[in-house]
Amino acid sequence: MKHTKNRLLRHFLLILCLGCVFSCKTTDEPITGLITEHAMVVSAHPLASEVGKQILQNGGNAVDAAIAVHMALAVVYPEAGNIGGGGFFVIRQNDGSNYSLDFRERGPLLAHRDMYLDEDGEVIDRKSIKGHLAAGVPGAVDGMVKAYERFGSLSWEMLIQPAVELAEKGFVLTQGEADKFNRTADNFREYSTVNPLHFTGKDWKENDTLVQTQLANTLKLIRDQGRDGFYKGQTATYIVEEMQRGEGIISYEDLEKYESTWREPLTGTYKEYKVITMGPPSSGGIIILQMLGIMEDREVSNVGDSYADYIHLKTEMERRIYADRATYMADADFYPVPVNELLDKNYLSQRFQTFNPNRATPSDEVGAGKILSMSEETTHFSIIDPEGNAVACTTTLNGGMGSSVVVDGAGFILNNEMDDFSIKPGHPNMFGVLGGEANQIEPGKRMLSSMTPTILEKDGQLFMVVGTPGGSTIPTSVFQAIVNVVEFGMGMQQAVNEPRLHSQWQPEVISYEKGGLDEQIKSLLEEKGHHFNERSGIGRVDAILVLPDGRLEAGADPRGMDEAFGF
Ligand code: DON
Repeated sequence: MKHTKNRLLRHFLLILCLGCVFSCKTTDEPITGLITEHAMVVSAHPLASEVGKQILQNGGNAVDAAIAVHMALAVVYPEAGNIGGGGFFVIRQNDGSNYSLDFRERGPLLAHRDMYLDEDGEVIDRKSIKGHLAAGVPGAVDGMVKAYERFGSLSWEMLIQPAVELAEKGFVLTQGEADKFNRTADNFREYSTVNPLHFTGKDWKENDTLVQTQLANTLKLIRDQGRDGFYKGQTATYIVEEMQRGEGIISYEDLEKYESTWREPLTGTYKEYKVITMGPPSSGGIIILQMLGIMEDREVSNVGDSYADYIHLKTEMERRIYADRATYMADADFYPVPVNELLDKNYLSQRFQTFNPNRATPSDEVGAGKILSMSEETTHFSIIDPEGNAVACTTTLNGGMGSSVVVDGAGFILNNEMDDFSIKPGHPNMFGVLGGEANQIEPGKRMLSSMTPTILEKDGQLFMVVGTPGGSTIPTSVFQAIVNVVEFGMGMQQAVNEPRLHSQWQPEVISYEKGGLDEQIKSLLEEKGHHFNERSGIGRVDAILVLPDGRLEAGADPRGMDEAFGF
């Protein structure tokens, strides 16, 4: 690679200059995450990571641990961990076989294209974001059951019981968690038909214990009856009654018919790496493979000599690819997503022919995307078990404590995933991304996602497990974590800590984390015609890297209270 050494040197000098915005204590030593010999769990909450580690120590495999972590997160990280939402698993077994499980929510049977528009065809404010109509049919529980039926090795009860206990006995809140519940209490009061007192009933303080009795009862039904404990019987009745009180449309039939789906994972290569990731209904896998595909051809080290040139290249790729996302990407069961065409090398090089190393290409005029304030209502965890099996899972309620509807009696929060559909052509969703016909609302259809749980192999061996929340910034954060390791030679924790940048066609700006972009670099990019938007942390990447000696290094994102446990 031409210039690599110089560029890397410059890049590391840049890191030294910037200081590490988030957790670096000394700037002259590389940051290293937890290193373990055999197994690792990295998730958004220490109690969930601990549950996963216990399952692995009791002989469970990566999928067993993933189910237990998912259920534990539904209790200790209720803003994103969930049984009322959905997500994706990407799994790589130690024999190299790989799988992806789609437990994304679906549009209810009574959903229709214009359900969030008034009689003049205008978008009704917040209707797709808050309240009962914002919820898609939850997929999480069916997903866990499907994963268990194929790969589970311990008893189902053992995997659900830790979550039951956390809900029943409660867990102690940090100041940050207490603040979060206090901040969101008004929304819960406004949008839930019965005030969910376990979230809103008091002014939360550090060291208070959050007990979720109704949720514990629901988890017991799931523990004892599996899928039927959620989609039938008492829990289904609670959900449908909640819908009737709140003029929502999820019915018994929706719950009965919901099915998560095993899909071929989307795979591609980048140099000596194989990338195993999520295809439609996620856009994330296509986006990172497109970005890596363009970058491979251009040889990142040849794009110029400075970090500014790299950011320019990255932004120009994102601009074009997010325009593709708006037009072509959707649930492939309903719309013929041209995956192969979008990943075709000729298409990508043609798409990038207008790239000018010296000038930003203005985005097209279509719509004015607007990024609303972001919340972290998605969560990702990465797991490797002692046998070398790996799971990357990203799961979500979408944004802002989901729909802010708690199902009374069942005690869990419903997603507001319907906003991920294109509710009107040219109208940006809460992450500012646009869409059209491909992603329009249809009964039973899955709304387009950006979630990008990803596993990398190097020379045929497991190399990295990675993913993050962050709405439309998810694919670009995953891309940066990968590039930081494979191109810039960082370890996993360092790669996760690095300041992130993001752009997405519309709005036509480069978003950067506060304190994360050197003024000099910014000026260089301004000279090329780029505009900027400073914002709070982008994403929370939780990842694991297999080191050359076979040990595992965690990257737990210091932007949250994410933590790794292993042995
Ligand atoms: O599936 C998606 O792309 C979104 N519902 C993810 C939302 C998300 O990451 C929110 N967290 N910041």
